[in-house]
Amino acid sequence: MKVLILVITVIFIKTEAWIGVIEFSGNYTSHCYAEQYNIGSMEENETRRIQGLCAEAVCQKDRSIKLTGCAPMMVKPPCYMVDGNISKPFPTCCYEIRCDKSS
Ligand SMILES: *[C@@H]1O[C@H](CO)[C@@H](O)[C@H](O)[C@H]1NC(C)=O
Ligand SMILES: *[C@@H]1O[C@H](CO)[C@@H](O)[C@H](O)[C@H]1NC(C)=O
Ligand SMILES: *[C@@H]1O[C@H](CO)[C@@H](O)[C@H](O)[C@H]1NC(C)=O
Repeated sequence: MKVLILVITVIFIKTEAWIGVIEFSGNYTSHCYAEQYNIGSMEENETRRIQGLCAEAVCQKDRSIKLTGCAPMMVKPPCYMVDGNISKPFPTCCYEIRCDKSS
């Protein structure tokens, strides 16, 4: 029972969207700069995939960096979502939708 609860919690966290903003951290030689997630410096309007996560960082005009994760999605039975493949580009890496019509 404990194991089942743990699995449900992990699935919930993984399918939850996370959207955040990293404020500019004071390096005036670059347009946007963040040490978080190995983002580094970015040009205005540049979009960069965040390494190891299914998320994307966008450098905004005000020098803040907008982080976009996977948006929540609804699927109707018999379809269901499984974890996406982290090697695929964003947002394809988010989920994979499967539909079992056999049952
Ligand atoms: C500022 O950004 C440059 C790249 O644009 C980087 O080489 C340098 O280390 C950064 N400096 C600081 C203090 O973060
Ligand atoms: C970034 O995009 C905005 C909106 O499309 C545009 O107004 C701006 O000129 C762009 N900046 C650069 C440096 O391309
Ligand atoms: C994930 O995608 C990569 C690149 O498309 C592929 O090589 C790999 O086999 C995939 N992994 C799984 C578990 O599907």
